[in-house]
Amino acid sequence: MKLKMGYAVMLLIVFLCHEVSSISILPHKHQTISLLKFKQSFTIDPSASYFLSWDTSRDCCSWNGVVCDGITGHVIELDLGGSGLVGTIDSNSSLFQLSHLQTLDLSRNNFSNSHISPEFGKFSSLKHLDLSGSYFSGQIPSEIFHLPNLEALYLENNDQLSGHFPKIKWNSSASLITLHLSGVNFSDNLPESIGYLTSVRYLYLSDCNLRGPIPESISNLTRIESLDLQINSLNGTIPSGVFSLPLLISIYLRDNQLQGQLEDFKSNSLNEILLDDNQLQGHLPHSIQNQVSLSWLDLSFNNFSGRVDVSLFSNLIQLRHLSLSYNNISLTNDNNITLPDSLVELELAACEVKELEFLRSAKLLRQLDLPNNKIQGRIPGWAWSNWNLSMTYLNLSHNMLTSVDLIPLQSLQIIDLRSNLLQGSLPIPPNSTTYFFISHNNLTGEIPSSICNLTSLVMLDLGRNNLRGEIPQCLGNITALEVLDMHHNNLSGNIPTTFRNGSSLSSLNFHGNKLEGKIPQSLTSCKQLEVLDLGDNHLNDTFPVWLGTLPQLKVLSLRFNKLHGPIRTSRIENMFPELRIIDLSYNAFSGNLPSSLFQHLKAMRTIDLSMEASRYDGDRYYQDSIAVVSKGYEREVVRILFLYTTIDLSNNKFEGHIPTIMGDLIALRVLNISHNGLEGPIPSSLGSLSLVESLDLSCNHLVGEIPAQFASLTSLEVFNLSYNHLEGCIPQGNQFQTFENNSYEGNDGLRGFPVSKSCGDDHVSGTKSAVSGQLDDEDSNSEFLSDFRKAALMGYGSGLCIGFSIVYFMISTGKPIWLARIIVELEHKIMMGRRKKQRRQRNCRRRNNH
Ligand SMILES: *[C@@H]1O[C@H](CO)[C@@H](O)[C@H](O)[C@H]1NC(C)=O
Ligand SMILES: *[C@@H]1O[C@H](CO)[C@@H](O)[C@H](O)[C@H]1NC(C)=O
Ligand SMILES: *[C@@H]1O[C@H](CO)[C@@H](O)[C@H](O)[C@H]1NC(C)=O
Ligand SMILES: *[C@@H]1O[C@H](CO)[C@@H](O)[C@H](O)[C@H]1NC(C)=O
Ligand SMILES: *[C@@H]1O[C@H](CO)[C@@H](O)[C@H](O)[C@H]1NC(C)=O
Ligand SMILES: *[C@@H]1O[C@H](CO)[C@@H](O)[C@H](O)[C@H]1NC(C)=O
Ligand SMILES: *[C@@H]1O[C@H](CO)[C@@H](O)[C@H](O)[C@H]1NC(C)=O
Ligand SMILES: *[C@@H]1O[C@H](CO)[C@@H](O)[C@H](O)[C@H]1NC(C)=O
Ligand SMILES: *[C@@H]1O[C@H](CO)[C@@H](O)[C@H](O)[C@H]1NC(C)=O
Ligand SMILES: *[C@@H]1O[C@H](CO)[C@@H](O)[C@H](O)[C@H]1NC(C)=O
Ligand SMILES: *[C@@H]1O[C@H](CO)[C@@H](O)[C@H](O)[C@H]1NC(C)=O
Ligand SMILES: *[C@@H]1O[C@H](CO)[C@@H](O)[C@H](O)[C@H]1NC(C)=O
Repeated sequence: MKLKMGYAVMLLIVFLCHEVSSISILPHKHQTISLLKFKQSFTIDPSASYFLSWDTSRDCCSWNGVVCDGITGHVIELDLGGSGLVGTIDSNSSLFQLSHLQTLDLSRNNFSNSHISPEFGKFSSLKHLDLSGSYFSGQIPSEIFHLPNLEALYLENNDQLSGHFPKIKWNSSASLITLHLSGVNFSDNLPESIGYLTSVRYLYLSDCNLRGPIPESISNLTRIESLDLQINSLNGTIPSGVFSLPLLISIYLRDNQLQGQLEDFKSNSLNEILLDDNQLQGHLPHSIQNQVSLSWLDLSFNNFSGRVDVSLFSNLIQLRHLSLSYNNISLTNDNNITLPDSLVELELAACEVKELEFLRSAKLLRQLDLPNNKIQGRIPGWAWSNWNLSMTYLNLSHNMLTSVDLIPLQSLQIIDLRSNLLQGSLPIPPNSTTYFFISHNNLTGEIPSSICNLTSLVMLDLGRNNLRGEIPQCLGNITALEVLDMHHNNLSGNIPTTFRNGSSLSSLNFHGNKLEGKIPQSLTSCKQLEVLDLGDNHLNDTFPVWLGTLPQLKVLSLRFNKLHGPIRTSRIENMFPELRIIDLSYNAFSGNLPSSLFQHLKAMRTIDLSMEASRYDGDRYYQDSIAVVSKGYEREVVRILFLYTTIDLSNNKFEGHIPTIMGDLIALRVLNISHNGLEGPIPSSLGSLSLVESLDLSCNHLVGEIPAQFASLTSLEVFNLSYNHLEGCIPQGNQFQTFENNSYEGNDGLRGFPVSKSCGDDHVSGTKSAVSGQLDDEDSNSEFLSDFRKAALMGYGSGLCIGFSIVYFMISTGKPIWLARIIVELEHKIMMGRRKKQRRQRNCRRRNNH
């Protein structure tokens, strides 16, 4: 009996020991091996010190990032976020042997665009899985959505990840609290089953390529605090009940295509409401005034309408950001009250704001964006003193202000006062200013040299005023300056000669002044220069061939000056490598056409199909920049110039033959060498200019026939050979059906359609095509793009300082929806401003020198 008992006890002990060792000792060994194998399957950034403690002489439970269960000893937490792993995780990875994991964080590593293994779905205890920002690609395995105990899933910031949003009830739908899938490409509708995630508190699905309506079942998420569906293509109306969700704090639906009216806000926990960039309409709900916790409200870029009184917001004492820009609303202030003094950023563009009194108590304002309103007179004195310390961004452009006395705002960085009715002398903003725009006003007097105290200036736009006197020499000394625009003023004297190495200047525009003297050679120090427009001045110099060394120069306009002499190039190898627009028209250049120049011009010799040719408006250059800054997006802005490749040498005294080599400039879209003294035949090589849309050789002494190769110029829209001595048959077919008599008049020897002398057996009828019909119709403002293009093709440069180049801005990261929208807006603006077209000159009247 005793013996038996002893045996039983012994058995028990053996059993216990076995259990203990199998639970805690062996697992450690296995786990250690698994962890080490996992680590060894990666190359680890040598600078990363994350794994220093991963030393086999120590218990793996003490390693950095490893947490074990206190009782069982199992690894339950592995936190390798940002630990420098580079490599892939295969299905046979030893990671998947750590089957007791509850928390797994592999975020911010580099898994080299590998797929997420379905094995992740086998961690049945997993509560917290973070694979964000780790270069995973491919489909999300559905197994992940079947994890039964999941509380938080982070897969965001994996650009290449796609998948299907689960259409069934998730196993974890009762436990999931955080779901962060932003950036995953679902290209799908959001399923009704999302309503099963009844425990979810944080739902982030921005930029997921989601379409269709937001399911009504979203209102079942009664615990939700943050709902982020921004930057998708969701349409339909916002489901009723969303704004009644009792715990909702932030709702981001901006940048979708949502329609309909806003229902009353019933939850009163709301902090942030971002609904901008949709197609919402109707009146703003009155219940906004009860949202006393509201700190951020953005309803801009919708179709909301009606009167909106300041009193709607005056009780929102937490409100920091309010944006109602670009709707159809008009702001009223019936009771003469003020917006809350908590306000930091206010955007009320195009809201029919008439005065600033409602901002009297907003003393913390940092950004004030009020363009396109009806503010008149002067900016009240209290404004300057209230905002003296805080204001960094002030946009009052496109209003009716008549005077600004002084701008003593100490923190100001960006000030935009364009397109007002400002009179008097140029106000000088504080020296903290980086962007100063005050073009399109009626400022008079000289530019004070104290403007050079603004040593941080990046952009200075003084164009379209009545400023006179000399341009301060010291401006060349501001090395941060990228854009210097003084076009259309009455400035005289010489161009500053002080440009220095290290200059950041990329755009210099002095078009339309009375500047005289020479073009300063110091401009060769401006290695970043892309746009140089000195047109319409009184410059008296020879061709500045030394500009050819500027590596970035894309646009060079010297039209309407007193430049003279032959154009010779130096022996430098690669001259004007990036030049796409050169306009030397209306000068007194002489000698042969510069074939030595045409041998260079690398950018005009290659067609880059990836670069869509488009238009350019000088203003856009700045608009985009200011938009970038004002929206607070700290992203790097990459400027890319897509240009309308053009050579305009018209109205000079060039002589000799048209060089055959011009046929090599195959990217050309506009070629104008009219009104010169050119002789000889038209080289057939010009038939290689397959993109050319406007070709003007009129008013020269050209002889011979029109090369038959021209019949293949199918892009040609404007064609002028008039007033030469051409003869023979006019090529037929393609575009040639669309040109009219005036393309050929003044050439007595030409025959064939459309001139009356017949050319053998052609029976082409005289019907005009749609193209020429439109060209003649002064009032058809069909479409902006074609409209502008035609204007450009006709060689008219009025209004526009730089002919017809285009500047596009691209943002290197992110999805610049807001930028696209600014461009759309601008195009609208440009279109409205350009209703007038000018007729092409139809004869060889010599230019009337201005
Ligand atoms: C895991 O599988 C991959 C192929 O899927 C193979 O290349 C690799 O050698 C395997 N690793 C181990 C440790 O078995
Ligand atoms: C990620 O790793 C791959 C090599 O697997 C490398 O080519 C790539 O540049 C890395 N990406 C980053 C952002 O470090
Ligand atoms: C999760 O649900 C799917 C079906 O919806 C089921 O096949 C699977 O077994 C479940 N997984 C777990 C771990 O419960
Ligand atoms: C998203 O996926 C769809 C279809 O799978 C594809 O057509 C689209 O290009 C993808 N979008 C992005 C941004 O990768
Ligand atoms: C949402 O709630 C409604 C009513 O409470 C219910 O009928 C419906 O089935 C729920 N939908 C989902 C997907 O949970
Ligand atoms: C939503 O967009 C889809 C196409 O993605 C379209 O078929 C549908 O008619 C749109 N619905 C509404 C309400 O506009
Ligand atoms: C509005 O109130 C301010 C004082 O807060 C006063 O100076 C101003 O005259 C009032 N304006 C009108 C139109 O009543
Ligand atoms: C700006 O002006 C203030 C005085 O108004 C001066 O103290 C400060 O040094 C100046 N800053 C620069 C960058 O010139
Ligand atoms: C500009 O100011 C001058 C006087 O300074 C005035 O004669 C002229 O009418 C003003 N032009 C506009 C458009 O206000
Ligand atoms: C601005 O520069 C002028 C000289 O051009 C100087 O007299 C003046 O003190 C400077 N003002 C400030 C505020 O720095
Ligand atoms: C420009 O800078 C140079 C060198 O620092 C200096 O000698 C010159 O006086 C400055 N010119 C003006 C006009 O400020
Ligand atoms: C250009 O300047 C020279 C002297 O440098 C002068 O002789 C000539 O008349 C000027 N030309 C014009 C058109 O003013």
